[in-house]
This record gives sequence, C-alpha cells and structure tokens, in this order.
Amino acid sequence: MKTSALTTGLRQRLTLIALSTLAVLGTTSVGSTATAAPESAVKASRGEDGPVIVAHRGASGYRPEHTLAAYELAARMGADYIEPDLVSTADGVLVARHEPEIGGTTDVAERPEFADRKTTKLVDGKPVTGWFAEDFTLAELKTLRAVERIPDLRPSNTIYDGRFEIPTLQEVIDLAKRLSKELGREIGIYAETKHPTYFQQQGRPLEPALVRTLERNGLNRPNAKVYVQSFEVANLKQLSTQLRVPLVQLVDASGAPYDFVASGDPRTYDDLVTPEGLREIATYAQGFGPQKDRVIPRDANGYLTEPTTVVDDAHAAGLTVHAWTFRAENEFLPADFRSSDDPAAWGDIFAEYEAFLATGIDGVFADHPDIAVEAARAQQLARR
Ligand code: G3P
Ligand code: CA
Repeated sequence: MKTSALTTGLRQRLTLIALSTLAVLGTTSVGSTATAAPESAVKASRGEDGPVIVAHRGASGYRPEHTLAAYELAARMGADYIEPDLVSTADGVLVARHEPEIGGTTDVAERPEFADRKTTKLVDGKPVTGWFAEDFTLAELKTLRAVERIPDLRPSNTIYDGRFEIPTLQEVIDLAKRLSKELGREIGIYAETKHPTYFQQQGRPLEPALVRTLERNGLNRPNAKVYVQSFEVANLKQLSTQLRVPLVQLVDASGAPYDFVASGDPRTYDDLVTPEGLREIATYAQGFGPQKDRVIPRDANGYLTEPTTVVDDAHAAGLTVHAWTFRAENEFLPADFRSSDDPAAWGDIFAEYEAFLATGIDGVFADHPDIAVEAARAQQLARR
C-alpha cells in the first residue's frame, strides 16, 4: 500500500490546520446535547455514521498531555471525548497522568524538595526509576508543573512547559461540563484506569475512587457520555458490576494483560482478538480498543499490509471498535505516509485515516483532534 510523497495541496491543508490551532480558541461549535446513548450525541453533531473522535491525552499534539489546556483545546477542536489516563495520589485522589512515574511529564526532577522521593519500583514486573504519583499527596503534586513528554518530536509544545498543573479527574469532569455548556454539545469523558494491578499492589486501588467520582457527578448512568477503558481484564470485569457506562477492553499489539501475568493466566492479547476472545470480552465490555496494527498490520519495513478481520469479528461479537493512536508525525506513521526522514515532520495522516476508517472502525484516539475531525468529514462526504 505504498503512496507518493505529500502533494502540494496536502501540505497547504496541513499548514492551514496548524494555523487554525491558534484561532480555534475563539470558535464555538454547534450540535446536539446528548439525551440518549453516548455516541448518539456524537453522531448528531457530525452525521449519523461518523466515527467517534477521542482526544488522546487531550490535544496532545499541540499541548503537554493530560493538562486542562490540552483537554480544552481538544474540545474546541471538535473532539467528542477527552481522554484522561488515571493514576492515584498518596491520599487516594485520581489524577490524569499516563503512568505512575511522573518524571517524564512534570518538572519534579528539578524540585530539590522532592529529590529524596526518587526511587525504583517494579511496574508490571519491570523496574522503573523516578518519582511516583502514589508517593505524593495531591497538595504536593499540585506544586508541580507539566512538561512536554516528547520535546524532540514536538518542540513547539515546550513553550508551555511549566505553565499547567496536573489535573484531578474531578477537574477534568468540571472542565467537560463547562465546555459542554459553552459549546452547545456534550463533551464526553473517556477515562482509563492505568496499571490497575500495580495500584492495587501499592494499596491505592483506582476503581473505588473512579466509581465514587462518577457517582458523585451523576455520571454512573447508561446515557452518560462516559467510557471507561483498561488494558487489564479483571478490573473491567469488576467494574462491569458497579458501572452503568460502557466499558472498553484495550488490546495492545503484543504482550498480555498484566493481571493475567500476575495470576498465572497464560492467555495473551493475541488470544483476546480471536472471534472467541472477542465474544468473551463482550460478556463484560461494550467496546474493544485495539492498537491500530491489530486492524491493519505493518510489514517488516513499516508499510501497511491488508486489514485483518478483527473489526468485523468485534462487530459480530457486538463490540464497538475504537482504535489507537493516530498522530501526524512521521515517527508514528506507516512508512506509506511519511513525508521525509525527519521524524518530527508531519506526513500524510489524512491517507492513514482514510485507510483505517475504510475498515469500519467506529472511533479513533487522536493526538491532533482537528485533523481527525477533518478526516471524518471527508470520509462522510465521500460516502454521499
Ligand atoms: O487508551 C487508548 C490509548 O490511549 C492506549 O494507549 O498508552 O496512550 O494510554 P496509551
Ligand atoms: Ca489512554
């Protein structure tokens, strides 16, 4: 599936999108407020058959991830959901970070008062050295500031280093409520429990706080615009007895759910994506979140091959399919769509979206939600 380099027209379109990022803060969006199932509201705002757009860690292509600024920009760009990954503080408060170790996304390493918190822990069986969210109270975490995770690939984002706090889940919900009112369409929450077994081992289980927070905000109901996702199985099964919102089983490109590893269950993610595995997922979850190589694998040189049957198999099992993660930089694109050897330069992500949306996936996790919105519109226009 090889294609030529970027066309002039596409380059112009990418430039316009980059420029529009600066203008988008002043825009408002139109659409319906959700009154039925979560995706009904989304489809009403973009058309009946449009894919769901999940802002991966916020608009993380434009702002340091998991900050209120990243989430707000994503909503203003047209994302249907903002995605907080969740970890726990020492005092049991859920905050938005991608992993327990916070040295990669905050300025904690530059804070002498926290130098003695640096330690090494086993996270899902692997040693990790740094500073860990569960070793800080919320008050302590609030003194830190977010920094860009991948400055070499996203140097523009580093101008925001040091400006934004680590948000709590409650603050993310409050932001979504405020923006829903302002934008006239409901902004959903797509929350992920990060390393559930690890946090149980640390004595800071994520699930009770998540259930409590959703309950407190009136969001534990079938028509709330909320998804809850996990790479592990046991905690989703447990949550399926407590939550009334749709659950999504994440499936990585390789490896196994860590709760399987910890309990001696020999099954891997490969076993979960068989038709039988997908039917098993459907007994406790409503969605399936595959790493995108599970949908269209790459060959040894990084080029896309033919789509697998996993989307059809998941649909046959009754599961919605939301694939991850779509990013504009060459570093992350299939070789087909890279614009140059510069890993930070943007390639033909529209072509990537076209290929993946054609497989029938129901949604995408996107670092650049504005591009995902445009790609979804293009797909719908092409169908008419
Ligand atoms: O949750 C979907 C996707 O975000 C999973 O990947 O590692 O970015 O949380 P990760
Ligand atoms: Ca995630």
